[in-house]
Amino acid sequence: LFAGEVDFLKGVVAMDGLPPDDRAEVCFAGRSNVGKSSLINALTGRKGLARASNTPGRTQEINFFTLADSHYLVDLPGYGFANAPVAVVEKWQRLLKQYLSGRVSLRRAFVLIDMRHGVKPVDDEIMTLLDRAAVTFQTVLTKADKVKASEREKILAQVRGQLAKHPAAYPEIVQTSSEKGDGIATLRSIIAGLA
Ligand code: GTP
Ligand code: MG
Repeated sequence: LFAGEVDFLKGVVAMDGLPPDDRAEVCFAGRSNVGKSSLINALTGRKGLARASNTPGRTQEINFFTLADSHYLVDLPGYGFANAPVAVVEKWQRLLKQYLSGRVSLRRAFVLIDMRHGVKPVDDEIMTLLDRAAVTFQTVLTKADKVKASEREKILAQVRGQLAKHPAAYPEIVQTSSEKGDGIATLRSIIAGLA
């Protein structure tokens, strides 16, 4: 699947701008700066495809990427702190919640958690929204390269404990590094399996 064509399709700012939901769709949600856009770039092997930056709030639209002719990859604006005016942030947050709870073709939401920080209350809120919408979500730990191997087990235990409260959580957690490539092949095959 990932050997095929990948392209930016469009950035969406309102629900009526969404493309027809005629193919398998997966999205990447998570706090601002967690590494959503970087992960899409690592998965597709296209460095500048999704715009990544150190400024929280970089992604301000729902960005659709086509993967072969069969899938959409969806890069979402972050939640939590963002470097943008409050009114603007509220508008994205409303759109984000509408999208996450109302998109029929959404096969799975990947909820990204910075491996250094674990699950925070805002992450828990999004997970609860996904429970209510009955959207299966899978946790992806990001920036694994910044965490010592000796600390990983403790963090995984915290995350597993949080996930146990969420009926929509898929049990397998994927540890990734967009910088070093850890977990990227695993995530590609998970997505390829979601037809
Ligand atoms: P918003 O669009 O603002 O919500 O952010 P985002 O979640 O899309 O994050 P983005 O991909 O823009 O990355 C934020 C910062 O984290 C950038 O400076 C990235 O280079 C860095 N980053 C992302 N993934 C990794 C990783 O796996 N390892 C390391 N060390 N840094 C990473
Ligand atoms: Mg982004």
